[in-house]
Amino acid sequence: MKPTIVNSAQKKTEFCSALLQRMTLDEKVGQMVQSDLTWKQDLQQLLREGRIGSLLSVRDPLLINKYQHIAVDESRLGIPVLVGNDIIHGYRSIFPIPLALASSWDTQLIETVARASIAEALAAGTTWNFAPMVDISRDPRWGRIAESAGEDPYLNSQMARAWVEGYEGFSDADGRRVAACVKHYAAYGGAEAGKDYNTVDMSERRLREEYLPPYHAAVQAGVKTLMTSFNDLNGLPATANPFLLKQILRQEWGFDGVIISDYDSIGELIQHGFARDHKEAALRSVLAGVDIDMMGNAYHFHLAELVREGSVPESILDESVMRILGLKFELGLFEHPYLKEEAISGALMQPATLSLAEKAATESMVLLKNEAQLLPLTASAKKIALIGPLAEERASLMGCWSFNGRPAEVETLQEALQRNLPTGSQLITAPGCTIDGNDLDLAAVTSAANQADVIVLAIGERETMSGEAHSRAHLNLPGRQLELVRAVAASGKPVVGILFCGRPLAVPELVESVPALLLAWHGGTRAAQGVCEVLLGKVNPAGKLTATFPRSEGQIPVYYAHKRTGRPVESVGTIQFNEAHRSAYLDEKNEPLFPFGYGLSYTQFAYSDLQVETPRITAGGMLKVSAQIENTGSLTSREIVQLYIRDCVGVVTRPVKELKGFQKIELKPGEKRRVVFELPASSLAFLDAELHSIIEPGEFEVWIAPNSRDGLKGEFSVI
Ligand code: BGC
Repeated sequence: MKPTIVNSAQKKTEFCSALLQRMTLDEKVGQMVQSDLTWKQDLQQLLREGRIGSLLSVRDPLLINKYQHIAVDESRLGIPVLVGNDIIHGYRSIFPIPLALASSWDTQLIETVARASIAEALAAGTTWNFAPMVDISRDPRWGRIAESAGEDPYLNSQMARAWVEGYEGFSDADGRRVAACVKHYAAYGGAEAGKDYNTVDMSERRLREEYLPPYHAAVQAGVKTLMTSFNDLNGLPATANPFLLKQILRQEWGFDGVIISDYDSIGELIQHGFARDHKEAALRSVLAGVDIDMMGNAYHFHLAELVREGSVPESILDESVMRILGLKFELGLFEHPYLKEEAISGALMQPATLSLAEKAATESMVLLKNEAQLLPLTASAKKIALIGPLAEERASLMGCWSFNGRPAEVETLQEALQRNLPTGSQLITAPGCTIDGNDLDLAAVTSAANQADVIVLAIGERETMSGEAHSRAHLNLPGRQLELVRAVAASGKPVVGILFCGRPLAVPELVESVPALLLAWHGGTRAAQGVCEVLLGKVNPAGKLTATFPRSEGQIPVYYAHKRTGRPVESVGTIQFNEAHRSAYLDEKNEPLFPFGYGLSYTQFAYSDLQVETPRITAGGMLKVSAQIENTGSLTSREIVQLYIRDCVGVVTRPVKELKGFQKIELKPGEKRRVVFELPASSLAFLDAELHSIIEPGEFEVWIAPNSRDGLKGEFSVI
């Protein structure tokens, strides 16, 4: 007998427990198995037998409906399947990569982007989105930094909340919803040496204070599901880690949603040397609390057997299945299991979505350098030479994880410039070299440069140079692009560099060589139009970095919230062996190329008159601090005003600065505003030597600042 159609009065628990009562052991295991189309099993037959509960990476809407019909019409209990996909920064309309979007520091924008992405994805059949990824990323070698919001726990937590609320806040006309999945729990971004999947070994203090807060924020925002990570953490793989999954996630945070492994990460317990075979891997993961085996290699083949032989109590499966059925119920899948094929085309690439993609692209851009106000380009720049291998790229502009995006639907920078330049302007193009090949046509570049009033240099990485399993040991411009930069600089013409990339790059020579540099990231379907709007001054860039740009790979990890050490460079140092010994390099500066929080504008903002209105606060009190921000330039623009604090002396050592707040404001030329921050003393809490959370009385410094390096400094104390 099939389940009857649910009406809103029926309670989720009643419905799901009634269903659970009727399930065989194999059907229960089935709900805990997810598979993609590469699995060497007969999917259709397994769906008929109720032995698959969710599908992974099935993107063809017709196939989704076909499989759903088999699950609903042909299986004994007719339980619909979930369809999980990675909609990381858009479905068909591609938005900037998450690292770029984070540079907007605009949680409202991110929430809107999330809703627009999920509206497209849901129309095409996705009901489970494997996003947001909120792994703290302090190593730009790691390709997956592109998917994150960067290095800071506070900022990542704000972004995590915005993504979850956007993804889960959307419902279609039938009331169908999509579940978000916060990933990769935990500390996946701490991979040693920036190599993907690598070991993570960190103190519980660092884990709890720096790496866990964004996952926790997603849980607090109500995220329905969570994905474990591939890495081991302090010796225990995250996919079979009761400390992470039971103690912290379930007990401390009260998460009651579904936990899924990463792609075959249960099977990979064998490679980790943590399980002898798939049976032991299944045992360890299910006992640690993983509800669903993504790819099923362990649960499908061994879980029922483990229950039958008494190694796993069936009640554990019952709890998992109740959560999974409950999720399907909440998403409206029992009532509306199918997508409407006739509605798909009307949901994709809609003008409003594309103009949102354009806005997101411009808000994500970071102006890194602008000597002599070369940008925005003025009408006197009649002849523009567009040089560089990114000028004619399409897929590279979309970035990693854009499976449903179509390169043919992405304009190249050349096409967009041609369309946007005022009549009477001339565009001369010369790619000069490929992104990472060994070719270089300096003659063509020099000829184009010599004819031009200004050079626009489109350089950087292709979309396959970041993302999963795409780490780089060298963070330079790939191929022969630096030679291109040198040739263009030698022409003596003004050069505007446009940097397309999926991570912070270590490019000091590029920065030295060009008077203006705009970081465009991998900006999505409308990136090229966005670049034109910024180049031509229709939009004033306002983005700020959320991950430090290193000067060289040897500085990594380099992040603003580091510890001071006993011998900081800014002190005289301890005299030992007759010279000052400091925490520094012989052959590199300590300063990064660009600090966290950094970004310029076509206008200027002056910070003045910092007032600490509450110089003494109690542990239950509120810090109130404000500063005057004035637009002293001649254009209206947005400014991201940042609040940092430092705990001067603690029972444990504390970072030199910690971001505790930010506001994005817009000011007209000459306009002044007093920006006020109110910070509860509870947000100054940290873990003491025994890892208990405390708000410690003592002296603090506070900055209201345009970035993590500069700003106005004041003091306050907690009494
Ligand atoms: C990635 C996840 C992703 C999953 C499904 C894995 O390789 O680590 O982030 O959600 O594949 O595509």
